[in-house]
Amino acid sequence: MKITGIVCVLVACNLWITANACSENHKNNSSEVNQALRSRYENWLKRHDRTYTNKEEWEVRFAIYKTNVKFIKSFNSQNHSYKLTDNKFADLTNHEFISTYLGLQPRLHSQTKFRYYQQPGKIPESIDWRKKGAVTKVKDQRNCGSCWAFSAVAAVEGIHKIKRGNLVSLSEQELVDCDVINGNKGCRGGDMVPAFQFIINQTGLPTEKDYPYSGIDRICNKKMASRNYAVNISGYENVPARNESLLRVAVAHQPVSVSIDASGYAFQLYSHGIFSGKCGKSQNHAVTIVGYGEEKGTKYWLVKNSWGSKWGESGYMRVMRENMDADGTCGIAMDASYPVITNISSIVA
Ligand SMILES: *[C@@H]1O[C@H](CO)[C@@H](O)[C@H](O)[C@H]1NC(C)=O
Ligand SMILES: *[C@@H]1O[C@H](CO)[C@@H](O)[C@H](O)[C@H]1NC(C)=O
Ligand SMILES: *[C@@H]1O[C@H](CO)[C@@H](O)[C@H](O)[C@H]1NC(C)=O
Ligand SMILES: *[C@@H]1O[C@H](CO)[C@@H](O)[C@H](O)[C@H]1NC(C)=O
Ligand SMILES: *[C@@H]1O[C@H](CO)[C@@H](O)[C@H](O)[C@H]1NC(C)=O
Ligand SMILES: *[C@@H]1O[C@H](CO)[C@@H](O)[C@H](O)[C@H]1NC(C)=O
Ligand SMILES: *[C@@H]1O[C@H](CO)[C@@H](O)[C@H](O)[C@H]1NC(C)=O
Repeated sequence: MKITGIVCVLVACNLWITANACSENHKNNSSEVNQALRSRYENWLKRHDRTYTNKEEWEVRFAIYKTNVKFIKSFNSQNHSYKLTDNKFADLTNHEFISTYLGLQPRLHSQTKFRYYQQPGKIPESIDWRKKGAVTKVKDQRNCGSCWAFSAVAAVEGIHKIKRGNLVSLSEQELVDCDVINGNKGCRGGDMVPAFQFIINQTGLPTEKDYPYSGIDRICNKKMASRNYAVNISGYENVPARNESLLRVAVAHQPVSVSIDASGYAFQLYSHGIFSGKCGKSQNHAVTIVGYGEEKGTKYWLVKNSWGSKWGESGYMRVMRENMDADGTCGIAMDASYPVITNISSIVA
């Protein structure tokens, strides 16, 4: 894999990084430490199939990698409920990461009906929609700010399986290319609620196979888009904001799209465990909650991300639930929504 799309960001960072790396070297240039890091980096490059265009970029990336590894070591030596690792984003500055791999542009939504008001006591203690076959394999948005499309699609895939009985992998690219008249901007960002509205409007979404993911903005391919609307939805609803107990009731019924602040270094370099921040609450990333549970007394949301299966817990993250903050960890309870499929059993052929 070659990193090409972030070139414009790189230029801005270059000077800063090099200067930092130099002063670092003067302070401590223990060649042994450097050598160990160098071979760790070379292994990392192989593992992630990463190549750079030239030696300069290699050095710049190595400097960033070293800084990240230092942060990871220091973080992991503390007693957090989760660990970091030099994952696929370990050669990126946090600034580059934010500008490339997020992509939620939240919009204000008017509150809808919420169909899952009920006593939280009556819902299961834990649920994992993967075990019920309602979650497709982890996908990868790649170098494109299309998280919103992945979040919406995962929620639609889930409710379709729950209501109609079969799991079908659906097209994000259709949303990236075609859902462009209502404020969504493909790889430059978007929001799930207009995406649901778009799917309702055109009465369906094609399969992943029929309209495959390319990770770049393209012209809407009407032929591919309408070839086969494999799945449709009849509506969507929002979960009342800042109420994790209602969010839990919703997730007990189906996977739910949520927004989250994913801009922190710890989010970028997350490895495993129950993520608890630190982070702000500016909604800049979209993911899908596909379950919840509790481990050793710590409650968590099970979150499906769209950064491939090499990130986090095989593509998933567990995020601390009911942490005393009504907004939820990193604002995860602030803006949740889900698609609706009404029963069609009354339709007689
Ligand atoms: C630090 O080490 C690098 C490579 O190991 C070397 O090129 C550089 O000259 C050294 N810098 C100093 C200040 O010793
Ligand atoms: C250089 O780094 C090594 C390993 O991190 C550390 O043990 C050593 O104390 C450092 N030396 C100086 C002068 O900071
Ligand atoms: C680490 O945190 C756990 C859970 O909060 C706690 O039980 C344990 O005592 C802590 N260990 C240290 C060394 O602080
Ligand atoms: C859906 O259709 C309505 C009415 O035709 C239109 O106002 C709205 O912009 C459309 N939304 C999307 C996301 O296509
Ligand atoms: C939605 O899909 C179902 C099942 O495939 C189909 O019976 C129904 O006609 C579709 N509805 C619309 C509006 O396309
Ligand atoms: C969440 O909503 C339920 C039902 O409306 C309400 O009883 C409860 O007090 C709310 N919790 C919070 C923290 O607002
Ligand atoms: C819709 O179908 C589901 C599953 O068959 C059933 O549990 C539910 O009660 C139905 N809801 C309505 C409103 O008919």
